[in-house]
Amino acid sequence: MPLRPYIVGNWKMHGTRAMLSEARAIDRAAQRHMKVEVALAPPYTLIHPIHREAEQIMVGAQDCHHEEGGAHTGDISASMVADAGAKFVILGHSERRQNHGESDATVRAKAEAAFAAGLRVIMCVGETEDIREDGRALDHVKAQLKASLPESIEDAGERLTVAYEPVWAIGTGKTATPADIAEMHADIRALLVELLGEEHGREVRILYGGSVKPENAGEILSTPEVGGALVGGASLTADSFMGIALAA
Ligand code: G3P
Repeated sequence: MPLRPYIVGNWKMHGTRAMLSEARAIDRAAQRHMKVEVALAPPYTLIHPIHREAEQIMVGAQDCHHEEGGAHTGDISASMVADAGAKFVILGHSERRQNHGESDATVRAKAEAAFAAGLRVIMCVGETEDIREDGRALDHVKAQLKASLPESIEDAGERLTVAYEPVWAIGTGKTATPADIAEMHADIRALLVELLGEEHGREVRILYGGSVKPENAGEILSTPEVGGALVGGASLTADSFMGIALAA
């Protein structure tokens, strides 16, 4: 059974309780448009408040620590975000890899902890502009994905999602061309089949992220092997976020 298109909002470091009204509006709209799976990753502080009220949308976290607990001031474990109501966690986002020095090994350890806590994982990969301009984007992204995924993943088709986010397209208003997206997603799909086997390798959804807006979502979401979108800025209001979901 093919999985529904997956539209995921990443609120990043935006969102106080005043934004709960937008989350409610997204949830109401999602109840009317069941052909897509709508999910939201707010800041940690809003996971439980949104989970408590949501009837349709899935709530997740934007990161988690790789250990179960301990002397890690300021960190939050996978089981803690699961306890707050998160059903998934975004890992390996370029802003974590760049701003917090997260290596592929760190991202892999976090993914292992997330799966162990019963969470789904959205694994982010993507190249910087210089790598794209040097013609090394495909090799870079495949190496990054291979090094960031755990050696074995139970029920990967259902529990793993990959998000291809060209770093140079995040927050810039620039998006990859449909041809580049199709080429990259095809290579990611081939790698997933190689790593996970035919069944799960073909079931994992591959999202595109990087300046997705209602205006460009139709073309991006109709590109081969694009199973949804990971949306930053345009997910902050119900109107723009659901405008993307409706294009799926
Ligand atoms: O995780 C999604 C995000 O990185 C994309 O951001 O603002 O370009 O949609 P934005």
